Amino acid sequence: MTTQGLLLLILLGIGSQLLVYAGVAYFRYRLSWQSLKDRDGVAEVDVATAAGPDVDVTVPAWAGCRNFRVSRRVDEDAARNVCSFYLVPVDGQALPAFLPGQFLTFHLDVADPAGVGRKAIVRCYSLSDRPRSEHYRVSIKRVPAAAQGLPPGLASNHFHDRVREGDILAVKAPAGHFHLDVQGEGPVVLVAGGIGITPIYSMLSAALAARPEREIKLFYGVRDGSERVVGAALDELARKHPNFQLHLCFSRPGPDDAEGRDYRHAGRVDIARLRLELDLKPYHFYLCGPGPMMETLVPALEDWGVPEARIHYEAFGPATVTRRGQAVASGPALGVTFARSQRRVDWDAGAASLLELAENHSIRVESGCRAGCCGACQTRIESGTVVYDQVPEFDVAPGNCLLCLAKPETDLVLAA
Ligand SMILES: Cc1cc2nc3c(=O)[nH]c(=O)nc-3n(C[C@H](O)[C@H](O)[C@H](O)COP(=O)(O)OP(=O)(O)OC[C@H]3O[C@@H](n4cnc5c(N)ncnc54)[C@H](O)[C@@H]3O)c2cc1C
Ligand code: FES
Repeated sequence: MTTQGLLLLILLGIGSQLLVYAGVAYFRYRLSWQSLKDRDGVAEVDVATAAGPDVDVTVPAWAGCRNFRVSRRVDEDAARNVCSFYLVPVDGQALPAFLPGQFLTFHLDVADPAGVGRKAIVRCYSLSDRPRSEHYRVSIKRVPAAAQGLPPGLASNHFHDRVREGDILAVKAPAGHFHLDVQGEGPVVLVAGGIGITPIYSMLSAALAARPEREIKLFYGVRDGSERVVGAALDELARKHPNFQLHLCFSRPGPDDAEGRDYRHAGRVDIARLRLELDLKPYHFYLCGPGPMMETLVPALEDWGVPEARIHYEAFGPATVTRRGQAVASGPALGVTFARSQRRVDWDAGAASLLELAENHSIRVESGCRAGCCGACQTRIESGTVVYDQVPEFDVAPGNCLLCLAKPETDLVLAA
């Protein structure tokens, strides 16, 4: 055999070995992808397996409101715009577990901004720590008056200015469908914008406590260093878990913020950043932030090819997220009758919901979270049907609808 022939034979041998290696690696990759993919169908997560350590998962949730004492208040950011409230049950009984990502609903009695007297309002706040046996924690951002003459936020300012340690608050049990299975094994990408870090931090810390080796990347966007919360806790988790990657993004770094030391990327968390930083893996994405962030990022992830079942999100207020293939309603003008108010108005396709339609026509209806979470706007449907662009977090009673999320599908008569 000639030298070239021998060389060719050796090269062929190496080539075929490489092919076999590549084939085996690809086969393994497909297997793990498939096994993760197959779990997509498992929508319901059990508190018993998903709450993580440190909690008694046999304690049942309570019905209606339960009184909690504020045991501690802690300012979380340099600007003192975010304050955490630690809550312990007044009855001294055990706390039920919750799924990291869920929220509490508060029934508050605040000073009426219209003048003298009090006003009953309902607001939701995410549980901002992993489940613990001794307390719940929520972290609340103060909503200031807006430039257009809009008043300061009622509940958030009430919490910041009026709620002291020792005060009692009426709270409904943890709820919500936005949560992470902490016992899962698959890689996870968490995305938080501003105060949207609260449920995301709960997910992160619970997931790492349950499975310290799980691959998790967190993209956390704030304006600058003064807005960053749970900073020390995030740094500590990143130090302890090499498999956890923290991507802090400052959209407008301050003069004292140094890239590499205080933050990792200048700019917002957007699809370009995610595509740049993420490998091709079957990630589950969990996003929480302001409405506009969800409205751009969720469709952008779908356009990138992330299956719908792998994108989980929550907005802290009204958000109009248009998912792929979602039909945009059109057709003849629909009429909406508000029976108690004795008003009939035409549906306005520009309105985000029946709640907005009612408010635009000065029809008095109840509301709270405006995001399908608290149930304050639940109204009986006398006739007709409604549609939702997103699945409500609140479990709507049969024959009712949530005005803050629903749109008419046919002519409607509502009890309100
Ligand atoms: C599931 C869920 C979880 C949440 N988790 C958190 C959390 O962890 N931390 C957190 O800080 N927040 C969270 N939120 C948001 C929170 O529930 C409140 O929406 C937020 O605190 C603002 O409430 P507020 O009563 O202070 O403001 P509101 O009084 O409801 O006012 C909100 C805004 O509307 C403007 N406004 C007031 N009146 C009018 C009017 N007549 N016309 C037009 N605009 C007006 C105000 O100027 C203000 O900008 C969460 C929301 C949801 C739905
Ligand atoms: S206002 Fe809370 S569910 Fe509609």
